[in-house]
Amino acid sequence: MAERAALVTGGSSGIGLAIARALGQEGYSLTVSARRPEKLEAAVKELRDEGLEVEAVPANMAKEEEVAALVARHRDRWGRMDVLINNAGVGIGGEIAEHETKKLDMQLNVNLRAVYLTLRESIPMLKEAGAEHGKALVVNTASIAGKHGQGWLAAYSATKAGVVGLSQAAHGELGKDGIQVTAFCPAFVATPMTDWVEDQVPKEDMIQPDDIAEGVRFLLRTSPACIVPEIQFVRPGDLMRA
Ligand SMILES: NC(=O)c1ccc[n+]([C@@H]2O[C@H](COP(=O)([O-])OP(=O)(O)OC[C@H]3O[C@@H](n4cnc5c(N)ncnc54)[C@H](OP(=O)(O)O)[C@@H]3O)[C@@H](O)[C@H]2O)c1
Repeated sequence: MAERAALVTGGSSGIGLAIARALGQEGYSLTVSARRPEKLEAAVKELRDEGLEVEAVPANMAKEEEVAALVARHRDRWGRMDVLINNAGVGIGGEIAEHETKKLDMQLNVNLRAVYLTLRESIPMLKEAGAEHGKALVVNTASIAGKHGQGWLAAYSATKAGVVGLSQAAHGELGKDGIQVTAFCPAFVATPMTDWVEDQVPKEDMIQPDDIAEGVRFLLRTSPACIVPEIQFVRPGDLMRA
């Protein structure tokens, strides 16, 4: 069994990859998951070349059976889960009047339903870790759009507001078991997800993936008595702006 182990979803690029790297550097054995196997393998090779211990498990988080299989693979490989990073997500812009149902459903399924299902499947291992050392950690990547709904991103904003509510509720249920739950609410982060807005907001003016990973390092160091329900990461000058 690993000494400490973490599962990171959406770990093949951007925020998830930066968090996976930080956790690996902090000594965690990792399961890193994403949808596209080739992209995932390339990211995991990068991490392994840096000396980190990583298992790659492709999974489409929109499918319940693949979520369950992912958590089971993590359990079989590492035998424990101290940290769960629920990070896989998709953002599809568009006005409500024209938004197709399949785009709404995809965002609901990946951004919200999968977070719920992954947490549910992981609870037994998280409780074991919480009982052992009093501080199992769940980070759910929401968005600043989940705090202040954004026009043209209505479906996305709604899913991310759901993640904030789910995180609060999970804390209420699981806090007594030594499981801390934190929602991350970033504005624009320089990842492939923000390529579409690069001509208006240059990538160097965006929050960097490593900034978000620093949030995880901080949460690893706080005491079991210190609960951090959410962290907002915003850019200079406007608390509500993406
Ligand atoms: N970038 C931002 O400005 C920003 C701001 C606030 C919140 N966020 C949130 O941060 C999280 C990470 O996003 P990012 O910016 O790092 O974007 P990214 O670089 O595009 O990464 C998204 C990750 O999610 C995975 N993913 C997408 N759909 C999936 C599915 N159906 N099943 C499994 N994995 C799937 C992707 O894998 P594949 O490529 O294989 O699909 C990839 O690993 C998301 O939840 C996003 O909503 C981002």
